[in-house]
Amino acid sequence: MNQKNLVATDLSGKTCLVTGACGGIGQATAEHFAAHGARVLVTDITDTFPGDCAHEYHRIDLTSEGGLNDLAQWVAAERPQVLFNNAALFDMGSVLDAGLDQFDRLFDVNVRAMYAVMQIVARTLTEHDMAGSIINLASQAGHRGEALVAHYCATKAAVISYTQSAALALAPYKIRVNAISPGVIDTPMWETVDGLFAKFEGKEIGQKKLEVGEAVPLGYMGRPFEVARVAVFLASAQSQYMTAQTIGVDGGSVLR
Ligand SMILES: NC(=O)c1ccc[n+]([C@@H]2O[C@H](COP(=O)([O-])OP(=O)(O)OC[C@H]3O[C@@H](n4cnc5c(N)ncnc54)[C@H](O)[C@@H]3O)[C@@H](O)[C@H]2O)c1
Repeated sequence: MNQKNLVATDLSGKTCLVTGACGGIGQATAEHFAAHGARVLVTDITDTFPGDCAHEYHRIDLTSEGGLNDLAQWVAAERPQVLFNNAALFDMGSVLDAGLDQFDRLFDVNVRAMYAVMQIVARTLTEHDMAGSIINLASQAGHRGEALVAHYCATKAAVISYTQSAALALAPYKIRVNAISPGVIDTPMWETVDGLFAKFEGKEIGQKKLEVGEAVPLGYMGRPFEVARVAVFLASAQSQYMTAQTIGVDGGSVLR
């Protein structure tokens, strides 16, 4: 840091762990972390990581106890100072038709696994007296319920709440915890979302995607790199006085 307190957006010397790294936002963020000098650890439930920026890839199902044990051992060995806690599932249904099977599936990944991974990383950092930055992926859906998206919205509201509680608990250890709430971002998840809206609202395939992009105040669906850039900011010293916050990356869709 120089006399004017300027600091570079530099992640060199840091190890960053990205979950859901084979998805649109996860892969873009892993690439951005690496491009800013970080050593990047990536994990997903799929067999291979499609990018070439990673130091190490582990295939892990974050809903299984065995998977969480593997992750805990990996984290203990590698001690990542940055966690991009991103793996999630989407599904739809109103309170009249979304059953408890869907509740269990979505809460298992979006909340239980998100919490477990955050706890594993936080415990390792505190044991070794290390500062860190945890970034949880919420959603604009976590700020307001939607008639047809009961469970997913609830999982993302839970992410925001856990982010706040964790941030307050971990502040004395110099571990910052923030969340990003993306709006509509053009990733593989949106193929699922678009197909489900086609079914539930009787739309043509692709129609919902067009409509949501046009409805964004900035006029288009976000791209994964636009979320990744904010993740780099939250991972770096640029955001060192920020914790317990949820940042919208949504082209102006949600006003807080
Ligand atoms: N794309 C959007 O419009 C949007 C909007 C708001 C929030 N988000 C959130 O951003 C994050 C990334 O979304 P995305 O659009 O890149 O999604 P994506 O579907 O492209 O990626 C999610 C990844 O999570 C992985 N995953 C799912 N279950 C898992 C499990 N049990 N164990 C390990 N990995 C598992 C998937 O394999 C996938 O690669 C998610 O938390 C999502 O809820 C996305």
